[in-house]
Amino acid sequence: MTIFERMPIKEIKGYDILPLIKDPAKPETIREATVHHSIRGEFAIRRGKWKLLCSPRSGGWSYPKPNADKEAIASSPLIQLYDMDQDPGEKHNVYKEHPDIVVNFAAESHVDRSIEDPGIFLQTNIIGTSVLMDACRKYGIQRYHQVSTDEVYGDLPLDRPDLFFTEETPIHTSSPYSSSKAAADLLVLAYHRTYGLPVTISRCSNNYGPYHFPEKLIPLMIANALADKPLPVYGEGLNVRDWLYVEDHCKAIDLIIHKGRVGEVYNVGGHNEKQNIEIVKIICKELGKPESLITHVGDRKGHDMRYAIDPTKIHNELGWLPETKFEDGIKKTIQWYLDNREWWETIISGEYQSYYEKMYSNR
Ligand code: TYD
Repeated sequence: MTIFERMPIKEIKGYDILPLIKDPAKPETIREATVHHSIRGEFAIRRGKWKLLCSPRSGGWSYPKPNADKEAIASSPLIQLYDMDQDPGEKHNVYKEHPDIVVNFAAESHVDRSIEDPGIFLQTNIIGTSVLMDACRKYGIQRYHQVSTDEVYGDLPLDRPDLFFTEETPIHTSSPYSSSKAAADLLVLAYHRTYGLPVTISRCSNNYGPYHFPEKLIPLMIANALADKPLPVYGEGLNVRDWLYVEDHCKAIDLIIHKGRVGEVYNVGGHNEKQNIEIVKIICKELGKPESLITHVGDRKGHDMRYAIDPTKIHNELGWLPETKFEDGIKKTIQWYLDNREWWETIISGEYQSYYEKMYSNR
């Protein structure tokens, strides 16, 4: 096994280090763009061939602060960097504590990035899922939960507000991202049927809240508005997303892993549909910024029109309902971004700059 300890942090591109889940049984925050496995006190972040394993060995939850002093992180004894190519057995380290439940939040999740470069999405979202499930089989995990997305159902037309995604809606994906997530879901169900792995799947609508990666709609608009930069709305901005506060999503996962039926899929949605343009206008209003910052730019290729979840099953079976109203959630989220500038400013000053230039300069 090749272990690269104290590798300079600059080798780790494109993501930050986050205390994503303080207690796997009571997850508090999810950042959907981060690839990680949270397993009893250890979590790992993977990008390409590199895997960053963070382990609070000293006891307690002494994670490095998100994007804190990079030198400190790089020299931290809590972090080991594994070369995945040379170390297919790395999971043995991750699993040495013999967890009983594994929740796979791991995903490359940004549709725009998947349009630019599908390969990493297949690697992380599909192969990564099978690697993790193989380890779960080996170690006799009591529950493997797959965090999926409503995007596996494709999209709904804008002129049919009566239609919603149920768990029976056929898989009908649009983007390389959603296709990779759908493939993973099918694998998860196949591992259940073929090997008897005790799985559950949740398919959630768009999350928002703390630690949302700055290249996604809401944090991007907050960051740009604060800097009085143009707010790039794709096309007319009429696309509809069903926004769910991240803590409500976490509570749903918590319920599913403890009370959900094995082999089942649960849709998780906020009944909170909003057009993109509405979201951007709300952010302008909350920050006291003029709507003249809104700039319509070229549309996303294959842009899904509307996502809308029917959460009847999880409500009826597990009693879940979203608790945070959008008006409150968006205020809390904006306040969080105001209070945690260091976190996102560090991110947007790095690789994000070239990403932004590439995605938005000639749009
Ligand atoms: P995003 O946050 O990327 O989530 P998803 O594509 O998974 O729904 O985008 C949300 C919506 O916002 C989507 O319809 C695309 C749109 N969008 C913009 O109009 N401008 C932007 O700069 C971004 C990032 C997204």
